[in-house]
Amino acid sequence: MNGTLQETALLCQSVLRSLKEQQEVEVVLCPPFTALVTAAELLKGSRILLGAQDAHWEPKGAYTGEVAVPMLKEIGCRYCIVGHSERRQILGETDEMIHQKVRAVLEQGLSAILCVGETLEIRRKGGTLSRVEGQLGAALQGIEPTRLASRLVIAYEPVWAIGTGHNATPAQAQEVHRAIRSWLSARIGKAAAESVRIQYGGSVKPENAGELMAQPDVDGALVGGASLEPKGFVSIVESTHQAKRSSPCSTGLS
Ligand code: PGA
Repeated sequence: MNGTLQETALLCQSVLRSLKEQQEVEVVLCPPFTALVTAAELLKGSRILLGAQDAHWEPKGAYTGEVAVPMLKEIGCRYCIVGHSERRQILGETDEMIHQKVRAVLEQGLSAILCVGETLEIRRKGGTLSRVEGQLGAALQGIEPTRLASRLVIAYEPVWAIGTGHNATPAQAQEVHRAIRSWLSARIGKAAAESVRIQYGGSVKPENAGELMAQPDVDGALVGGASLEPKGFVSIVESTHQAKRSSPCSTGLS
């Protein structure tokens, strides 16, 4: 619930102006539903892509208040975030709902940015990897490996790091990202697992983006609070560009 029309327009304009020369980082902006059309108009013809923050799993029907994936597609969205921890925790989204959403997003031809991550309590008990692997297993069960290889993005977002100012250390992020990659590798093959982008999210800021993005299995960032300030967001994209000069990666806004 951040991003009025004016704020979203400012962010789009600022990113468009500042990132002209950037060629290697895929940038996706995911404003709230109300600002998607405005952003779509501003970003048209540019290489900055548009994403939504959520979608319902049914393609249409009587689900008052919900937005369907084909509606997002119609206005030019290429990505959709699924299973953000705020939706899981505050709005009660279950693993089953998240599974249906990932399936719907991929079936409609969009890319899904699937969020996974542990709470502080789980981390303290040593349960981080089993929690994350459990979320992956539940969300991705039965989905064709080719779909996952081509259009799945995973965002590792430790719940304790989101909006708190306390990011995971680069080593903590790398440990979980490597485990996610090897979990994927066992299910869809090594080459396919390499092609899935794994983003880190949770208090990414201009000051810490460089060292987080320098980790070998950290392919990009899902940026929340820092994207509300266009200059900071652009600086995170630039740090990512520097850290990943030789391999494409992505930065998102939520
Ligand atoms: P943050 O949010 O960057 O403000 O921690 C991340 C997110 O909401 O995905």
